[in-house]
Amino acid sequence: MILAVPRETLPGEHRVALVPAGVATLTKKSLHCKVESGAGAAAGFDDDDYRTAGAEIIADRADLLAMAEVVLQVRTLGAHSEQSPTDLDAMQAGAVVVGSADPLGHPEAVREYADRKLTLFALELLPRITRAQSMDILSSMATIAGYKAVLLAANELPKLFPLLMTAAGTSLPAKVLIVGAGVAGLQAIATARRLGALVQAYDVRPAAHEQIESLGATAVELDLATDDAEDRGGYAKAVSPEQEERQRAQLADVVAECDVVITTAAIPGRPSPRLITTPAVDRMASGSVIVDLAAERGGNCEVTQADKLIEHSGVKVFGPTNLPATAPLDASLMFSNNLANFVSLITKEGRLAIDADDEVVRETMATRDGEITNERIRQLLEK
Ligand code: NAI
Repeated sequence: MILAVPRETLPGEHRVALVPAGVATLTKKSLHCKVESGAGAAAGFDDDDYRTAGAEIIADRADLLAMAEVVLQVRTLGAHSEQSPTDLDAMQAGAVVVGSADPLGHPEAVREYADRKLTLFALELLPRITRAQSMDILSSMATIAGYKAVLLAANELPKLFPLLMTAAGTSLPAKVLIVGAGVAGLQAIATARRLGALVQAYDVRPAAHEQIESLGATAVELDLATDDAEDRGGYAKAVSPEQEERQRAQLADVVAECDVVITTAAIPGRPSPRLITTPAVDRMASGSVIVDLAAERGGNCEVTQADKLIEHSGVKVFGPTNLPATAPLDASLMFSNNLANFVSLITKEGRLAIDADDEVVRETMATRDGEITNERIRQLLEK
């Protein structure tokens, strides 16, 4: 079976879907990996690294896509803001695409796969269950984003993170607030703590409080009555407009005291909850920094603009949408491991073996045989 790894084309996307070690793993499973020339260059892997691992290098992208039975991409149509369906047009009907496709954010793109009778596995749909953890790109990429968000903030803040007592004087530790303690938020807490900051964190899910405290941060308690804030999949449910209003008002007092705020709050398939208002930013000291990891879905902070630095009353507000691409080596290693594990699940003895009775396979599948197979995507398209 032929597996293709095209070069990523979104500007600034330095990751590659499969690294040479992933090629070696899949080659041992009788899969033939073909890689577009230069696909791994930005992540630090040249064509010879891929050849040594067992891949064939193909210069022409359209040729590569036309011969593929399975295409592996970091960003396939839907998760690539500047991509037209040209790549899909080059693929043969019945081919399988595996990667991130942002199917809940861009359900209309999913229809393009169905129209061409391509099978799409959108890894964002992977169920958050223990067996699927080794394939979970949302977790692996959120880990990197949480870490990098803190480094970005530390670099921009005019003061240091740790308490330093020196002969030249004492600098007090930076006060950091993390909003949303999922995978990215917990990594941000751990990173800010390692740098010596005083860290507080808030999440609407009561279960997150114990995790926040286990990392040595203080859990911020708001008076909201959100005991049922978690769905069966472990994700947060949207809170009511009244609760959100109270949340904003109470958070503003905490935000005003902080040097750095890192926000990561998300509800799958919905715009980011607006938790930090412009007046709350106005109350922060000049020189403070906000890094809003929810920028892609509109941001948790009213001031945020995706991929821009906004300076608002002396506060720097960043809305980076692709921090994992700024650590392309480790991000690609993790992404590649996630993909190789998923490919192993849908192949057997070198052939495709898609078992739709398997929960992980079924839930991750977005299209097959010309149909949109995922109920949530169908509902979004009917709206
Ligand atoms: P996410 O990226 O969807 O959201 C980030 C965080 O924002 C979540 O912790 C959420 O509770 C929080 N949030 C949403 N609305 C909020 C609001 N109004 N105010 C404050 N916080 C708000 O979440 P992520 O990181 O993808 O994790 C979702 C859940 O899945 C977590 O419980 C996580 O522990 C769990 N998980 C389970 C895995 C497994 O068992 N395989 C793997 C990864 C995550």
